[in-house]
Amino acid sequence: MSYPYQIKNLEGYHEAYQKSIQDPNTFWGEVAEHFTWHKKWDKVSDWNFKDPSIQWFVGGKLNITENCLDRHLATMGDKPAIIWEPNDPAEEHHILTYKQLHLKVCQFAQVLYNNGVKKGDRVCIYMGMIPELAIAVLACARIGAIHSVIFGGFSAQSIADRLDDAKANFIITCDGAFRGSKDIPLKSVIDDALIGNKNIQRVIVCTRTRTAVSMLQGRDVWWEDEIKNVEAQGIQFVPAEVMDAEDPLFILYTSGSTGKPKGVVHTVAGYMVYTNYTFVNTFNYNPDDLFFCTADIGWITGHSYIVYAPLCAGGTSMMFEGIPTFPDAGRFWDIIDKFKVNILYTAPTAIRSLMGFGLGPVKGHDLSSLKVLGTVGEPINEEAWNWYNEQIGKNKCPIVDTWFQTETGGIMISNMAGVTPGKAGWATYPMPGIELILVDDQGVEITTQDGEGMYRGNLCIKQAWPAAIRTTYGDHERCRTNYFATYNNLYFTGDGAFRNEAGQFRITGRVDDVLNVSGHRIGTAEVENAINMHAGVVESAVVGYPHDIKGQGIYAYVIYTGSHAQDSHGSAEMIRKDILQTVTRIIGPIAKPDKIQFVAGLPKTRSGKIMRRILRKVAEGELNSLGDTSTLLDPAVVDEIVKGVV
Ligand code: WTA
Repeated sequence: MSYPYQIKNLEGYHEAYQKSIQDPNTFWGEVAEHFTWHKKWDKVSDWNFKDPSIQWFVGGKLNITENCLDRHLATMGDKPAIIWEPNDPAEEHHILTYKQLHLKVCQFAQVLYNNGVKKGDRVCIYMGMIPELAIAVLACARIGAIHSVIFGGFSAQSIADRLDDAKANFIITCDGAFRGSKDIPLKSVIDDALIGNKNIQRVIVCTRTRTAVSMLQGRDVWWEDEIKNVEAQGIQFVPAEVMDAEDPLFILYTSGSTGKPKGVVHTVAGYMVYTNYTFVNTFNYNPDDLFFCTADIGWITGHSYIVYAPLCAGGTSMMFEGIPTFPDAGRFWDIIDKFKVNILYTAPTAIRSLMGFGLGPVKGHDLSSLKVLGTVGEPINEEAWNWYNEQIGKNKCPIVDTWFQTETGGIMISNMAGVTPGKAGWATYPMPGIELILVDDQGVEITTQDGEGMYRGNLCIKQAWPAAIRTTYGDHERCRTNYFATYNNLYFTGDGAFRNEAGQFRITGRVDDVLNVSGHRIGTAEVENAINMHAGVVESAVVGYPHDIKGQGIYAYVIYTGSHAQDSHGSAEMIRKDILQTVTRIIGPIAKPDKIQFVAGLPKTRSGKIMRRILRKVAEGELNSLGDTSTLLDPAVVDEIVKGVV
């Protein structure tokens, strides 16, 4: 038994689950006893979904970095905390022990102080996957600054919007980032994002690619110089700021069904307890296991399961700078073999893409260290699940299919390795503390089975859990209307699901206007706004369609002025490219449509609403089941769209 709150078997799961639902306060209070607190809580939880107001471990005082670092120093100071593998396999990997990581976090915390960062300040982090990214995140947490990590694939415009929304005062970035054969000029993107920005006081730049950068006098400083100053000060330890349980830990932006990304806010204590609990239980984590989560720290999976949960558990977290296909499609298997990885946690899109290369890249690699496999981010199709199970897990590793969201902080539905059974394509059982309900569009609980014996509906959550979203930064009303107002007294996930007689859940995907492209969440409204920025575009409508590798692809219908086939700006093909360039500029390359169809009109109801149902069907190629089009303002539009399908 590695952790006192680790579940041993199926019976143990049912017991824990019953207890967690009947008496959540006792349940979570007992788990929280196993962490380091400056002061214990007065009350385990206090919440209502109406406002919403969600508080856990009320009155407790702590710092998450003492739980992730300091408390391990005496017993495992020399144990690797992070093993970092660079993009280029020819470059040396790095190992950071708990002692070394602690020292680096303290020193960088001092750098933050020296540069004027205070508790509560918002610090934007835009870096590649290098150890300094984890160090920057933890250093913010150490001094109580609120980090907001932005994924390296977002554009200057996206960053500018987020900086503005978070009212950020500080930025930590790199000269550039290596990703496969590419070298992404991060600092230059930041420079573009900062044109006209008056709030940013300091930009700290870490050296990675040696790309030429412009350093603005009085604003930009080098990470390495700042560390030298701290060393000259003789600083090796910085006491952790004592935080209230409900002080914000971070903001992470994510897409919703409206145009603007939301700043999801998580607070210190509930997030810490819940992510740690779900980590050790989902993966059946043993403190000596090497855990390899392939996500980027720019997403919630990376926050929770590369940085905070593994370190809080005193584990060893593998961090990889590159991509699965560089220098070849055997890179993951290479890393697993080289470091003897025990648990691999990745996305279905990566599995599908690697599957496409056949078994060649897998051969010759010893994968026998693997004990548990995991997937996250999107539904996994059976073919990919089987390949993962047979070719990677050699039929001996349980596969945990973990469902969660940026807003939920940690894993909400998943089988538990070696404890509860898995099922291809099914996330299966809720975690202890998570009470799920399926409702119809009116919010009425689904109580009847369909022809296949399934209960199908919109997935909601009935009770607050410790890592629940607290607010959307700067706009609490938006949090309420987005998640807590659709159905009375429920948190609405935005996903559809079905449940079988055994109480296992299968997630079918988003039921709102959010796409899941390669496991990345993208709002259709956001993409439409970006397309509409392009000169000549009159209107656009974006929908998803099934894509073999990405899960979902982006299909855009665009009304373009003049003759799109050949206007003064060139051919339709050139205009398509211009539109893609615009989307890359406004959001980033991840939001580029896979298909663009020029149309003369969009199917609209008499009240002017776009009938997306029809556009989805066309994009999915289901041209014979478009349904009733008689309520459209101009049904002829549909015929034209069907003729021009790409
Ligand atoms: C989807 C990612 C099916 C879902 C952790 C959710 C999944 C959205 C799964 C959240 C899964 C995540 N099976 N779908 N195992 N995991 N999703 O915020 O639609 O980037 O609402 O968090 O991804 O995406 P986010």
